[in-house]
Amino acid sequence: MSESDLLKKVVALCKRRGFVFPGSEIYGGFANTYSYGPLGAQLKKNVRDLWWQLFVQRREDMVGLDGPILLHPEAWRASGHVEGFNDALIDCKSCKARLRADHLLEKALGIDVEGLSLEAINTLVQDNNVRCPHCDAFDWTPARHFNLMFSTELSKTQEGSSIAYLRPETAQAIFLDFKNIINTMRVQVPFGVAQVGKAFRNEITPGNFIFRVIEFEQMEIEYFIHPSKWETTFSNWLEEMQKFCRAIGITKTSLFEHPQEKLSHYSKRTVDIMYDFPFGRSELYGIAYRTDFDLKRHSEFAKVNMEYLDPKSNERYIPHVIEPTFGLDRSVLAVLCEGYREETLEGGESRVVLGLHPSIAPVKVGIFPLMKKDGMAEKAQAIARTLSKRWHVNYDEGGAIGKRYRRQDEIGTPFCITVDYQTLEDNTVTLRHRDSMKQERLNIADLESILAPAFEINV
Ligand code: GAP
Repeated sequence: MSESDLLKKVVALCKRRGFVFPGSEIYGGFANTYSYGPLGAQLKKNVRDLWWQLFVQRREDMVGLDGPILLHPEAWRASGHVEGFNDALIDCKSCKARLRADHLLEKALGIDVEGLSLEAINTLVQDNNVRCPHCDAFDWTPARHFNLMFSTELSKTQEGSSIAYLRPETAQAIFLDFKNIINTMRVQVPFGVAQVGKAFRNEITPGNFIFRVIEFEQMEIEYFIHPSKWETTFSNWLEEMQKFCRAIGITKTSLFEHPQEKLSHYSKRTVDIMYDFPFGRSELYGIAYRTDFDLKRHSEFAKVNMEYLDPKSNERYIPHVIEPTFGLDRSVLAVLCEGYREETLEGGESRVVLGLHPSIAPVKVGIFPLMKKDGMAEKAQAIARTLSKRWHVNYDEGGAIGKRYRRQDEIGTPFCITVDYQTLEDNTVTLRHRDSMKQERLNIADLESILAPAFEINV
């Protein structure tokens, strides 16, 4: 299967089986938005919950936060987003396509233009006679900067500016509550704050499904440290991030060190964890050394002292920050692409399998009666009721048993339980494993304790 086929197949499976639907489909769609269907919502929740378990619940040096999407507009001036969070866009006058100038030049000339001025971009387009990839015309507007933040209007009766921004990253809410957390949680540097939530960016995207969307979910950590500790903390968190990837079954990763001259305005070092998506190697997650940039700027703009007093050394300083950031939608896309496979079975039959790690599989167990009659359905329903107290299960009594297995394989269900005539005699069932398709006979009473370890992550 070619890589471009893989993306098409994953998109089709997502639609067919209720993982991801195009946004506002009945109105003809709404570009770069998607809806997570019942299975996608559960898969996403499982990834999010595991992340929280690993990085908040299991660690004594981390606490959580759920900050607002709308922050005081001044916060976005302090963070540098009002001034500097821009994309250079260029319009084709002939077909009206609006494109990101960097993407246009990357494709046409194979060069990286990040950080170039608008003037330099326009010169490159003109000198190289770069043509529109949609209509082949050479008729461009000059490239212009567009801010990526969505803005919305607050109540008209308010004094002064009524513009508020939808957050383009979750990080800033953590900086705004830094003092509140210090004052309420008895935390001491080094410590971190984790947050999961929606972020919004007015992006032009090349249509790689849920890879780049205008509304997405981030899972971010701001880890506060003494500046002398930044290098070791950076390496430790980079290792933790890679462990998380492995734990949820993401293996096709590599690291990309951002060159010094191309770092974001707040960063002294950034490394991206790249993933080999079907459309090419692209950023999955990132880690940045944000120094004391954000706390310092908020301190200046809000006129609040953000210093921390070390209780042991009595040193007073603004903590520095290491920021591991994870995109939830990209995590979902990576596990779907990595898990998708087609197999030819003995006898020529084929099956589609979503080889998701059991810990994130949306449905943990499929439960079937061999036939509906003679009390088998009731017995299987009783098992489903019991297991559903711990896990998301699927009861299915429709069609041939082979078909029911295939339906579960395709959505990544790691185990299927079948109730048959023998069950009625000795309370045993067959447990069928998704990947090996092997079956074993087990007592109903042992099911929970046998299944539970498979849903844990190995970290
Ligand atoms: N607070 C730092 C920050 O926001 P970023 O690299 O711009 O850094 C962090 O974003 C992560 O959010 C990315 O690594 C990616 O996983 C995800 N992300 C960013 N923009 C996205 C978009 N338009 N659609 C989906 N995910 C996105």
